[in-house]
Amino acid sequence: SFALRRLHMRGKGGLCKCLQKVDTFLHRTIGTNAVGRCGSLHAVQAERLEQAQRSILISCYSRPTEKKFLKYLSRHGDVKKYFFYESYGVYAVVEFANRDGVASLLEEAVIPSVSNEALVPFKSRLLSLKNLSSVDSNQQSGLQCQPQTSIPINQLIQRLSREESIDQQVVSLTETYQLTDENIRLRFLVCSLLQDIAAAYFPECTIKPFGSSVNGFGKLGCDLDMILDLDGISGGKPKSVLSLEFQLKRANSERAVTQSILSVIGECVDQFGPGCVGVQKILNARCPLLRFAHQPSGFQCDLTASNRVAIKSTELLYLYGELDPRVRSLVFTVRCWARTHGITSGIPGAWITNFSLTIMVLFFLQKRSPPIIPTLDHLAELAGSADKCVIEGNDCTFVIDISKIQLQSNTETLEHLLREFFEFYATFAFSKMSINIRKGKEQNKPEVAPLHIQNPFETSLNISKNVNATQLDRFVALCQESLWLLQQSGTNTPRVGNRSNTATPWGLATLLLPSQVAGVKSRKKRRREPASERIKGLLDSLKNNSQPKKRKKNTK
Ligand code: GTP
Ligand code: MG
Repeated sequence: SFALRRLHMRGKGGLCKCLQKVDTFLHRTIGTNAVGRCGSLHAVQAERLEQAQRSILISCYSRPTEKKFLKYLSRHGDVKKYFFYESYGVYAVVEFANRDGVASLLEEAVIPSVSNEALVPFKSRLLSLKNLSSVDSNQQSGLQCQPQTSIPINQLIQRLSREESIDQQVVSLTETYQLTDENIRLRFLVCSLLQDIAAAYFPECTIKPFGSSVNGFGKLGCDLDMILDLDGISGGKPKSVLSLEFQLKRANSERAVTQSILSVIGECVDQFGPGCVGVQKILNARCPLLRFAHQPSGFQCDLTASNRVAIKSTELLYLYGELDPRVRSLVFTVRCWARTHGITSGIPGAWITNFSLTIMVLFFLQKRSPPIIPTLDHLAELAGSADKCVIEGNDCTFVIDISKIQLQSNTETLEHLLREFFEFYATFAFSKMSINIRKGKEQNKPEVAPLHIQNPFETSLNISKNVNATQLDRFVALCQESLWLLQQSGTNTPRVGNRSNTATPWGLATLLLPSQVAGVKSRKKRRREPASERIKGLLDSLKNNSQPKKRKKNTK
């Protein structure tokens, strides 16, 4: 709403209405502080974590009626919020008004009796609801389940095709894909359940989400990145001449400590954590982590420790997303477009990552005239003493208070920005220049790599050093193709009013159809063929295939 007020002041009413729905939703979802302005990520997280500690997760194998279920729970305390969802069975998330409700419920819960198996008696807030009465156990309970995954791409294409403008399509995509309030609650609850396991050794620790679960750019179904935060563990100060200090185990480096803690926690999660399966210890990675699936929520989880720079990156992306509603919409659209065409992938490799892609969108928005978002250097200049942050010698300082940031008056539409994004990267001098959101200006590449994007906080690093020339070429070719598509009047005209139930793809929906150029040739081959030839070939193939629905599948 803060960003929208600014847009209103700049007289951008039409776009505003369009984005208002997304923005209102976001604030309902992520959180609003007492004064009505969206709080800093830190404040929002604290509120969500506290809420999660008052919550439980129940598998409702024998589906109760909603009334019965609530009546049963209310005996233990006031239920503030509850919802059901499906993930290999029906589950309920229940938030009590205070922790006594949870404690009372847990006191009544029983250890199941099993034959032929033994149980680890670790009591957690993941429970199963059993129905001892056989009367209604087989009845349809009619519980309404909240979706926790996004709709398939062909349904999205249909939905977008029914919109009346490209601006509305972009907003509709964002609304469809963004995390729901329920999904965010579930993410924080999973963190809280894991925190209970880690707290056996480190009672003062917190486990909190970072990355796309909280930075405002998360899509339903995205992984759950978590950090085990041990920074809250502190001792007292010596009060007299005689004082006591803890005897602690020593290790060679911070990294070794992180590895040993994650190794032990990984073992506990694997052996004791109900619902946690497939635990992998990836301790030799640059940033050691545990990877596992949390079955009841359906989340793929990554748990790291001492990853403070990643928290700072999350805060920065969150801040940029809050500054102007067009930021989130464009990032969602570009991420979706990239995923559809295999530019990004769920598997690690030479692909561009969502994080790199987001930075590329931010950089593009900094390069508009006038810029839509400020440079990171400018955000650092606006920082107060409370914002000061240095992590392992890297200055990660930037302003947290959004109201201190003055934006320039840019009123470009989402449709225009999308087209310009493709044009910008279709012609960007990737071979010489590095993308740099600190300066908001491309810089000479400091090292050889097909794609160079300066890490915003560890400035000597390239966040896209994994990307190879083939993947970059595919990205550029797809930008060219999408730009070309958006310039065609056929693509640009809404095709609503179609009598059949299937709407003909147009606008943004066309860009999500299988591409002609997804499997571009290697860089060597492309050098022999001038860009004009490629565009001409593309033109011809599209002319011959004017029905976008019938375009061929990718050919390698
Ligand atoms: P998705 O999971 O793909 O939806 O996006 P994500 O932003 O969560 O990305 P990912 O799970 O790969 O990484 C989680 C977070 O770690 C990101 O949001 C960044 O804050 C941080 N991160 C990821 N990759 C890098 C990197 O290469 N360098 C740095 N400094 N941070 C990274
Ligand atoms: Mg992630």
